[in-house]
Amino acid sequence: MHDGMDIGCARFVSQTALRVLGRDDARDVCAGDISEVVATIAFIDLRDFTRLSEELSPEGTVRLLNDWYGTIEPLIAAHNGFVDKYIGDAALAVFVGPVDRAVQCCIAIVKAVEELNRGRLAEGLSPLRAGIGMNTGIVALAAVGSSSRTDITVIGDTVNVAARLEALTKVYGVDIMFSEHTYARLKDLAGFELRFLDRIVARGKKIPLSVYEAYGGDQETRRDAKKRMRPDFDQAIAWYHYGRVEEARSLFIRCAAALPNDGASLEYLRRCSEFERTGVLERAVEMNVYPVWSQEFSVGHKTIDLHHQKLFEAVAVLMRMIDAEDFSRIGSVVEFLAKYIVVHFNTEEELMKSCAYPFYDDHKSQHDRFAVVFADLVRELQAGGHGGVYVAFRVRILIVDWLLNHTTKADPHLGHFLSRAAC
Ligand SMILES: [Fe+2]
Ligand SMILES: [Fe+2]
Repeated sequence: MHDGMDIGCARFVSQTALRVLGRDDARDVCAGDISEVVATIAFIDLRDFTRLSEELSPEGTVRLLNDWYGTIEPLIAAHNGFVDKYIGDAALAVFVGPVDRAVQCCIAIVKAVEELNRGRLAEGLSPLRAGIGMNTGIVALAAVGSSSRTDITVIGDTVNVAARLEALTKVYGVDIMFSEHTYARLKDLAGFELRFLDRIVARGKKIPLSVYEAYGGDQETRRDAKKRMRPDFDQAIAWYHYGRVEEARSLFIRCAAALPNDGASLEYLRRCSEFERTGVLERAVEMNVYPVWSQEFSVGHKTIDLHHQKLFEAVAVLMRMIDAEDFSRIGSVVEFLAKYIVVHFNTEEELMKSCAYPFYDDHKSQHDRFAVVFADLVRELQAGGHGGVYVAFRVRILIVDWLLNHTTKADPHLGHFLSRAAC
């Protein structure tokens, strides 16, 4: 017995989850309770668990899992997160609140595993390694089950993408990978050691998604090497995505020389070789595809749809000019966009306020971050020289892709709310 409860039946429900569901006591939670919340989801996997457990007796496997969960769970709790569920050797952690805390937690987990490994190696045991995929967005926290057993769990696309990114950590040999939705909500960007990794299309999706690595949990020599190679690495990725494979390859070779076992550089070098062999460039989307608004982008609100249509058109014109290195009329497009973005964001924000949209703060913070990124890129474009492929690529991922992702995720959620609220 434990705290007057039979351990076999005791079900841990986090206070945060209860708060989100508007309940004071776990006993009051009923199947069917559901509430939406902005959360960062971390899918935390113990790499190579199957191989590790094959070497162990059942007792050894249990000890391994307990070491693993005993290491990560207190850290998740200390960073204001909670474990939604354990799935075999993986934990699904939920962080309601600042995204920075969630990323700090995952870095702390990678460091703690490193620490744990010192003891394991001394005992002759194989070292452990975490693979973590993160994503942020509006999720539904729901009580699911039957009258005899109810579990509270997070549901939604945000969760599925986090799981997908965890699987992708292996491709790039990284410990922590997160989406642009998490990146865009980080407050202290400069406080993290990050690098852009790729532009992917998650399974079942059409819109490209930027993914980043947080490498603050790496050992110092690796962190330093990744920091030093950043300019080469960033430039090489831009070359690669624009199909300039030769230029990309020479820079990735330099990156791999700076850090010989850098999985991300090796992955791109593999793709460069594949291209030479097959003529096929492995990347998520063609670069000469420009956004076109169609009814499938409708958020169900006339004014918002009209604005989006105009934004799509202007962004496509801008992107075409940049890709064609035709900078003669770029000033007028940029000027139009800068003004129109303000008008559009203000319109959405007024609607959110007047209709008491519960995710106003999160949605507005996304607008605000975009406005800053846009202004920075415009300054770079206007400074002349135009930065070639590197700036073109950044406009592509930070402006075009952002617009597509925002108008297909955040804005439809707002649109549905407005039509339900008859606003
Ligand atoms: Fe919008
Ligand atoms: Fe918006």
